[in-house]
Amino acid sequence: MTAPTISTDALYERIRTVVPRVEWATMEDDVAAIWRLKRERNAVILAHNYQTPEIFHGVADIVGDSLALAREAQHVEADVIVLAGVHFMAETAKLLNPAKTVLIPDLRSGCSLAESITAADVRALRAAHPGVPVVTYVNTSAAVKAESDVCCTSGNAVKVIESLGVDRVIMIPDEYLAQNIARQTGVEVITWAGHCEVHERFTPRDIAQIRVDYPGVTVLAHPECPPEVLDVADMAGSTAQMQDFVRLEQPARVALITECSMSDNVSAANPAVEFVRPCNLCPHMKRNTLGAIRAALELGRHEVTIDPQVAVRARAAVERMLAV
Ligand code: 13P
Ligand code: SF4
Repeated sequence: MTAPTISTDALYERIRTVVPRVEWATMEDDVAAIWRLKRERNAVILAHNYQTPEIFHGVADIVGDSLALAREAQHVEADVIVLAGVHFMAETAKLLNPAKTVLIPDLRSGCSLAESITAADVRALRAAHPGVPVVTYVNTSAAVKAESDVCCTSGNAVKVIESLGVDRVIMIPDEYLAQNIARQTGVEVITWAGHCEVHERFTPRDIAQIRVDYPGVTVLAHPECPPEVLDVADMAGSTAQMQDFVRLEQPARVALITECSMSDNVSAANPAVEFVRPCNLCPHMKRNTLGAIRAALELGRHEVTIDPQVAVRARAAVERMLAV
């Protein structure tokens, strides 16, 4: 895929309901430079649903949840992939398309879940529960994936667990996701005390308040939220599943219980829907800015590399997930 020529005015039309024109004026120079650099470097930008609208609608070539970005990364033909997301997403892209140069605009784009667990922790869990399969959320390092039987995302966790046909799994590192999936599947989970620093902050009281303040609101929550939050939501799903729900159902009023930028991006694409915006920001996702993406393309930084011995085992766990 070669980046097409596109005017910044046409790009602005996509986000005019969520980004004021005066703000766009400060961004246009970087946006135009990024489109030029994508053509010059034969690069594509993969952006997660939590990127700000000027990145998501303004410069990205492929957008989606973690699962979609992994699937799409496999088929990229361009020489360079810029991953506007967090480090584990860039590693997953590199695992699935190792011949490409994968760049992450800011090396500090981590994830509280990925940082909660090490490869040694997984080995210790296995030793404590011999024979129990290890299902690892993609929000982990390649080294942790390498110790796992299969990966999952919030979009396919139920399918992945059910595909194993067992009564008990080790599901790491997100305690709440594991508890939520255990309830859906009836499979017993041994989990880990990792939490997403964004989703763990939502409470059932927040939802109750939203329902009082915005009568008739439809509440969609991400499964990284605590189970008590999902109990009082109308629907739970990955970021792509929430997006699809809004697109297909067109609820009059909706609250997305997840990272801030999701509402902006989904709202820009669904102008008839009123968005209540409970907002918890992911500081790691927000390391991606137009300036950082432009510098990544200009300077070819920061290249993501993975130890080949780790990569071969981590890739197997991700590929098993994609085969489900
Ligand atoms: P999704 O897979 O639903 O996009 O979630 C990724 C993530 O980091 C959520 O916090
Ligand atoms: Fe990690 Fe949570 Fe940020 Fe997603 S929102 S990248 S799970 S810290």
